[in-house]
Amino acid sequence: MQAINASIDVDKRLAAVDITASDAHARMLAATKIISQADCDAICNGLATIRDEIDSGKFQFSHELEDIHLNIEARLADLIGEVGGRLHTARSRNDQIATDLRLWLRGACDGLDAAIADLQAALISQAEAHTETLMPGMTHLQIAQPISFAHHLLAYVEALGRDRGRFTDCRTRLNESPLGSAALAGTSFPIDRAMTAKALGFDRPMANAMDGVSARDFVVEYLAAGAMCATHLSRLAEEIVLWASTQFGFIKLSDAFATGSSIMPQKRNPDAAELIRAKPGQIIAGLVGMLVVLKGLPMAYSKDMQEDKAPVFTATDQLMLSLAVMAGMVRDMTVEADSMAAATKQGYATATDLADWLVREGGLPFRQAHHIIGQVVALADKQNKSLAELTLAELQSIHAGFSKQALQVLDPAASLASKTSLGGTAPSQVKKAVAAAKKRFLTG
Ligand code: ARG
Repeated sequence: MQAINASIDVDKRLAAVDITASDAHARMLAATKIISQADCDAICNGLATIRDEIDSGKFQFSHELEDIHLNIEARLADLIGEVGGRLHTARSRNDQIATDLRLWLRGACDGLDAAIADLQAALISQAEAHTETLMPGMTHLQIAQPISFAHHLLAYVEALGRDRGRFTDCRTRLNESPLGSAALAGTSFPIDRAMTAKALGFDRPMANAMDGVSARDFVVEYLAAGAMCATHLSRLAEEIVLWASTQFGFIKLSDAFATGSSIMPQKRNPDAAELIRAKPGQIIAGLVGMLVVLKGLPMAYSKDMQEDKAPVFTATDQLMLSLAVMAGMVRDMTVEADSMAAATKQGYATATDLADWLVREGGLPFRQAHHIIGQVVALADKQNKSLAELTLAELQSIHAGFSKQALQVLDPAASLASKTSLGGTAPSQVKKAVAAAKKRFLTG
């Protein structure tokens, strides 16, 4: 029974918030004259001692005492005697755990927001240095159109900005106090729930005591935000793996973030990126696992809910680690601008520019231009040439309207500079986007 029932190994991480919540509860009990001020003082001093014991690693956690709440309550009784037993007046472990977890997640959301912002800062600073660095933009992992490296990195800055928004939304919604819900019915003691809510920094007490102890949708929301963020990191990690490969050769990882092989002396493996790529496995599993635990669970509290802590801690730890490592990797990497630029000369990356030229200068409907350039690409392919290597005569053999001017749009740098639409990859736009991103994400 103890092996299945005890959660202390996992929930001891809630010690600090558990003590904070108990302290607020005790002070409220005194303010409402449910306990005496002297008893409240003894309880709060005892709690402070326990906090020190836990901080300094002296606290003895025990499996027999099941969970963090009972461990702390038992130690309080050791320290201050019977008075300690008054702390649990008008309270249940059900509202206690719900309060603790909300407090803990509030801190976790703040920590993740800062960690994501730091990764955004790393990406933005690389972007700032590479607004003119050409690289082939891809769709279907096939060369599509020339873009700048900055443009690519800023795409992730946006995605991460939305991840931060999701954690902020989650934090806002979870910031209501379940404390005082007691077991599920509320209590007959004249408690002041608004007082504890305020003391603990909650926006308000939760309206329904049964919901207070039963709700775990805040956990699901947190894990969903985490799964999404981990998934974004995984996509970036995969690109880093590709870019660092010999075939791409777009970046070089620093020694700090590359590993060797135990057999092949030439290897520089992107292990850190691969591990970040794998992390959504655990985090998505936690999200799905939590939904499965809650599905069909009747009101109010059931012990099933005790299993919510492990996925929350796993997601938080793995995400914090992934974000820190990704920020380091991004800051440290060397950009191989020449290989990136060389790659934009392959794959007919400026074919669309030539089609656009026919529309702009020749007045053709885009569909017709698209068809003509299809033939141009087929000709280049047959002759084993890049588009820029085709002669004007060859172009004109397909469409008489081509002029010398048309050849200019085949230059990748010209293509890049021409994409001046809002959100486009032209250096003029991307420089503005870098400045705007700094303002939106890195101030305040
Ligand atoms: N350790 C429990 C949990 O994490 C605390 C709540 C226990 N409540 C109860 N009625 N047994 O869910």
